[in-house]
Amino acid sequence: MFGALKRTLLPLLGAAAVLGLSASVDAKLINKADLHAKQAEAAARIRANLPRATGARVSTGVKNITFTNPRASEFYVDGTTIPEVDWDVGPSWSGLLPISSDPNETRQLFFWFFPPGPQGSLDDLIFWTNGGPGCSSLEGLLQENGPFQWSYGQAHPTQNEFSWTNLSSILFVEQPVGTGFSLGKPNITNEDELAAQLVGFMQQFLDVFQELQGKKLYLTGESIAHEGAQYAGMYVPYIANYIYEHPQALNLSLTGFWVSDPVLGWDVVQEQIPAVDFVHKYENVFSFNETFMAHLDSVAERCGYAGYVEKHVTFPPKGLLPLPGKSVEADPGCDVWDEIFEAALAVNPAFNIYRIFDTWPILWDVLGFPGSFFQTQSPIYFDREDVKRAIHAPVNVTWSECSNINVFTRGGDRSLPPAFTVLPNVIEKSERAVIVHGLADFILIAEGARIVIQNMTWNGQQGFQTPIEEDSFIVDGMGALGTTHTERGLTYFEVALSGHMVPQFSPRAAFQIMEYLMGFRETP
Ligand SMILES: *[C@@H]1O[C@H](CO)[C@@H](O)[C@H](O)[C@H]1NC(C)=O
Ligand SMILES: *[C@@H]1O[C@H](CO)[C@@H](O)[C@H](O)[C@H]1NC(C)=O
Ligand SMILES: *[C@@H]1O[C@H](CO)[C@@H](O)[C@H](O)[C@H]1NC(C)=O
Ligand SMILES: *[C@@H]1O[C@H](CO)[C@@H](O)[C@H](O)[C@H]1NC(C)=O
Ligand SMILES: *[C@@H]1O[C@H](CO)[C@@H](O)[C@H](O)[C@H]1NC(C)=O
Ligand SMILES: *[C@@H]1O[C@H](CO)[C@@H](O)[C@H](O)[C@H]1NC(C)=O
Ligand SMILES: *[C@@H]1O[C@H](CO)[C@@H](O)[C@H](O)[C@H]1NC(C)=O
Ligand SMILES: *[C@@H]1O[C@H](CO)[C@@H](O)[C@H](O)[C@H]1NC(C)=O
Repeated sequence: MFGALKRTLLPLLGAAAVLGLSASVDAKLINKADLHAKQAEAAARIRANLPRATGARVSTGVKNITFTNPRASEFYVDGTTIPEVDWDVGPSWSGLLPISSDPNETRQLFFWFFPPGPQGSLDDLIFWTNGGPGCSSLEGLLQENGPFQWSYGQAHPTQNEFSWTNLSSILFVEQPVGTGFSLGKPNITNEDELAAQLVGFMQQFLDVFQELQGKKLYLTGESIAHEGAQYAGMYVPYIANYIYEHPQALNLSLTGFWVSDPVLGWDVVQEQIPAVDFVHKYENVFSFNETFMAHLDSVAERCGYAGYVEKHVTFPPKGLLPLPGKSVEADPGCDVWDEIFEAALAVNPAFNIYRIFDTWPILWDVLGFPGSFFQTQSPIYFDREDVKRAIHAPVNVTWSECSNINVFTRGGDRSLPPAFTVLPNVIEKSERAVIVHGLADFILIAEGARIVIQNMTWNGQQGFQTPIEEDSFIVDGMGALGTTHTERGLTYFEVALSGHMVPQFSPRAAFQIMEYLMGFRETP
């Protein structure tokens, strides 16, 4: 047995291992069955902890949801007919609805609504949006928190054990106008107009799906910043603010919100100041040569990035936090983020700003972004005619994950980052609010989110008053997986090993955070 195993493994081990072959090598050999057993055991430990923490809100469990408005049946999706998904996903509803009651309204948004699974609660409605601007929320559905998932490198869709439908119902909306399957011409120039259009759509949605009126609403989303679209992806705080400021607009009770890897403040804060610290933290992942490391250190020194965190990110803060230079983006000669990106690609052409651990080869992606390169299905999943027909999507629209047009007109989004405007208000008005950040995200860097938080005043004080403790985020069945800190209605999470899309890369942690947000557990 040992002989056979040795023969199969030796070619893989290389010369050094062969020379070192001795009694101790036995322990290093592991066959396929053992390996899979170990992984299955680890997965089982996570599952074993699934019953929710006690003492909190208890879900009543779900009876089937039925919609009495006959129009609802136009949107019904039979869960056995979703292409490539070879089990019954259960009932769901999808299609286009206009952003106003005007019979001539040309602007329509595409949605896909899933009722709660058997373990979920009927009392809530989770709204999910991706960022961009112009990126489709169907990415979240298929690769993050929906009931079935088809992520990079997966041969087939699989059931998502950590689907948020286990918590309650979830509504994915492709918004604003100009995104995904939505119809009509974009005409917005800021986030308040975006929120007004979304609320207009929600009114039409609640007319058809009346049984969802009166539910507790949780707004959730993730914010991707595209180069060239500086203040992108700030949707959730602005939508929340609009709803809190127009309490009669929707028959829903907004209760809390989630933003993950969000654009909250200036680019220089969320991308530049922490970039070189980030490289030091992950030195062996970046594998830069010493000359380049020395160069980065000198730029960080010259541009006011080096030592910024030690000096200014104190608990409590000592006053408003200064910019490191003159620009809110990067002063001339101070764009270290771009230099790091270029250099990372030189040694690792598969380097992924959304999850820095990726190496060659780039994984197959059915959505064509942000995995991809040439490893892309053609046509991409939501652009297949059979998929479009199954979900009542307009067959004549070419779907892409992120829109090629600007969804904000006349020069783009004019809104300021939410930390300077609406974020304090929406934290103050919510029962719970969570800001979540993947620690392996390089497009937006967690340490930058800390700077934004320490510079923001909500509920009467600036920033967190006490430090964020290491290893404070304990995920059931896993142990410490990052940090968490709560003060005055805001909980901040940093999730280790997760890239930009936290529900995709760390689904167990994301699920637990949602349980906390929704009151299904007392503690983060
Ligand atoms: C809910 O509907 C499904 C079919 O969609 C059916 O199989 C199930 O028995 C129903 N459950 C209840 C509790 O009515
Ligand atoms: C819709 O458009 C038609 C044709 O332009 C027009 O006659 C009608 O008054 C419009 N209806 C409304 C409610 O604006
Ligand atoms: C979600 O529900 C499915 C089906 O009931 C179950 O197998 C799974 O363990 C649940 N997951 C969580 C995280 O509760
Ligand atoms: C955009 O168009 C809608 C009609 O679809 C209109 O009600 C709205 O006022 C327009 N918004 C802006 C900002 O021009
Ligand atoms: C809001 O929804 C609740 C629950 O469905 C319903 O009882 C109530 O009549 C609705 N209110 C309005 C103003 O439509
Ligand atoms: C801190 O907030 C003030 C406004 O409240 C702003 O002027 C300043 O640029 C912010 N500093 C950073 C580092 O974002
Ligand atoms: C070190 O890295 C920099 C940045 O990628 C590159 O320009 C330079 O050629 C590298 N030096 C060596 C010796 O590889
Ligand atoms: C696609 O068809 C819809 C009607 O189903 C129409 O309103 C829309 O303008 C068409 N879009 C394109 C790009 O042809």
